[in-house]
Amino acid sequence: MKLVGIVGSLRKESYNRKLLNTVKSLLPEGVDLIDLDYTDVPVFNQDTEFPTPDSVVRVREAIKEADGVLFFVPEYNQGIPGALKNVIDWISRPVNFETMEKVLVGKPAGLMGATVGVSGTITPQENLRSYLTYMNVHVMPQPRATISGVQHKVNEAGELELDDITLGFVRQTAEAFVEFAKKVNQLEQI
Ligand SMILES: Cc1cc2nc3c(=O)[nH]c(=O)nc-3n(C[C@H](O)[C@H](O)[C@H](O)COP(=O)(O)O)c2cc1C
Repeated sequence: MKLVGIVGSLRKESYNRKLLNTVKSLLPEGVDLIDLDYTDVPVFNQDTEFPTPDSVVRVREAIKEADGVLFFVPEYNQGIPGALKNVIDWISRPVNFETMEKVLVGKPAGLMGATVGVSGTITPQENLRSYLTYMNVHVMPQPRATISGVQHKVNEAGELELDDITLGFVRQTAEAFVEFAKKVNQLEQI
């Protein structure tokens, strides 16, 4: 099983990227999770949508081949970061206007996120859920790991060091998503 992870933060030391790496280590054998690099995706402008930039083609291909997409959602002003919305806007558009293929349609998606504040990314996750549902993506309703005060959950080496309860929550979300993705993909094939 091949999962694509989309971290909503571009920064190298992103807590959400560290969370992706934690999830990677928790996934059952045979399930792979890649950290999709979209740093080179330009700001969306309908005037320059075609020819499709190479970076966007690459991102869309990775999603097309994936069995599911896991979003790692930071919180910016109680919403999702602009870079994440931008890449989602690109992905939401048809690959071309002949086939009208949209690579996210029908895909299973899972949400989790970490923030330095107290609200644990609940609001941005719900914003994102609403965008994705509109795009006909199957978003797992629950569980959805939320981590607040993440800056207190790193060790001296800067690695994420989650307490047992938080780690259990993350594991539960990751494992539930693998099962959810299997079911959605089976249904999509009918
Ligand atoms: C523009 C901006 C807005 C932010 N707004 C919030 C916020 O509303 N709530 C919150 O808890 N943290 C907020 N933060 C702090 C982020 O939680 C923090 O920068 C976090 O590290 C971002 O995720 P990352 O580590 O994956 O990059 C904000 C940060 C930025 C740069």
